[in-house]
Amino acid sequence: AAPVDFAARLLGWYDRSARVLPWRVPPGSGAVPDPYRVWLAEVMLQQTTVAAVTGYFERFTTRWPTVADLAAAADADVMAAWAGLGYYARARNLLACARAVVAEHGGRFPDCEADLRALPGIGDYTAASVAAIAFGRRAVVIDANIERVIARHRLIEIPLPAAKRAIRTALEPLVPAERPGDFAQALMDLGAGICTPRGPACAICPLMADCRARGRADIERLPVKPAK
Ligand code: ADE
Repeated sequence: AAPVDFAARLLGWYDRSARVLPWRVPPGSGAVPDPYRVWLAEVMLQQTTVAAVTGYFERFTTRWPTVADLAAAADADVMAAWAGLGYYARARNLLACARAVVAEHGGRFPDCEADLRALPGIGDYTAASVAAIAFGRRAVVIDANIERVIARHRLIEIPLPAAKRAIRTALEPLVPAERPGDFAQALMDLGAGICTPRGPACAICPLMADCRARGRADIERLPVKPAK
């Protein structure tokens, strides 16, 4: 199916089924999410589940409502608030990034992938997700859920990590110019709730019509894990 059609089906489903999460704005509301909140959520969500992150996100944003507030926090307070999320280098980078946004960008997050990527602790994934979700940039966002959805839809049978290039190549032309942030988050929600690692709910998937893995007995094998 044509890219527009893929995005249209996915976004239509997202408008009805998006998870309500504290860093999101309702799809189709026209509201723009705060880049600080998007960035904070995406950093917290790396290697940590949505369920585990939600409470931390609420506490952080209540205590430090803006990036300037976080930048001015004492290191020990931020490290203590982070305790339990793990990967403490992320918390150090979080503070370094907040301070760089204040010192180098006047307290406003840069609005393109390249400038985001130059900030401490912001890698390819975070730069792409913040650019797409907070700034409406047509960035290609790929996390583990998105990898699984695309590997199945396109029947990409190359093992990870080599599959990543094929997944990116397949996804890139599908990303719409309109609502690229909702498009990325729709793929995340689809991967989390429908195109699950085990027992995917293909019968209710909005992408079922042209999914190349639908109905295959070995669908759970995709994406193929790295050879040991
Ligand atoms: N995992 C990483 N980023 C996410 C987001 N924006 N929404 C839901 N799950 C996510």
